[in-house]
Amino acid sequence: LARGVTGPDLAGRHVVVSAGGTREPLDPVRFLGNRSSGKQGYALARTAAARGARVTLISANTGLPDPAGVDVVRVGTAVQLREAVLKAAADADAVVMAAAVADFRPAAYATGKIKKKDGQEPDPIVLVRNPDILAEISADRARPGQVIVGFAAETDDVLANGRTKLARKGCDLLVVNEVGERKTFGAEENEAVVLGADGSETPVPHGPKEALADTVWDLVVRRLG
Ligand code: CTP
Ligand code: CA
Repeated sequence: LARGVTGPDLAGRHVVVSAGGTREPLDPVRFLGNRSSGKQGYALARTAAARGARVTLISANTGLPDPAGVDVVRVGTAVQLREAVLKAAADADAVVMAAAVADFRPAAYATGKIKKKDGQEPDPIVLVRNPDILAEISADRARPGQVIVGFAAETDDVLANGRTKLARKGCDLLVVNEVGERKTFGAEENEAVVLGADGSETPVPHGPKEALADTVWDLVVRRLG
């Protein structure tokens, strides 16, 4: 299969990659967040640029340096990530949602720091659901033939849960990782299965995040035709 080293098979294409993890603020100094490092998304952005694509990288709280030759848009929350993805996806050939999007956000934001009250237990944190960006862009494609890829981290019944999620999201490809205490988050390497809406299953052996990224782009290129 064509790889970055063999030819610019994404030349003339615009691809959008989201990376990192959203943070949902409670007050000016606190947030609900997750452990996504952004490394897999950055590997996707680098490899796409190496294969000739124009790349928009939407980066949520990663602290990673901007990859050369990539347009980087920095966001904080899921709502901001949605805005940035919808805008960039309007003229994209492919969208890869590698970011870990918070499913919920605090229902209220305290404009001042939340303080302890003497002798009182804390108030519970009330949450509301965030928009499902991947499901939304898959159901309402900005362009016919746009290829949309999701990521899923599962701890149990990885393949069965992955198939169900792929169908529910309506995307073309779903990269399914098995996660656990020491697996994937922040690691340099990854192991996954890429499930296709066409029923295909592409195992990716344990290896660098760049190798998984190149396999994703191979599958995207094939679908772009
Ligand atoms: N995703 C999204 N918007 C959300 C939540 C998730 O776009 N509000 C995207 C992620 O970027 C990822 C994919 O959906 O590409 C799967 O995320 P995951 O958390 O595994 O899926 P959920 O539908 O949130 O399911 P779960 O209840 O297992 O967390
Ligand atoms: Ca989720």
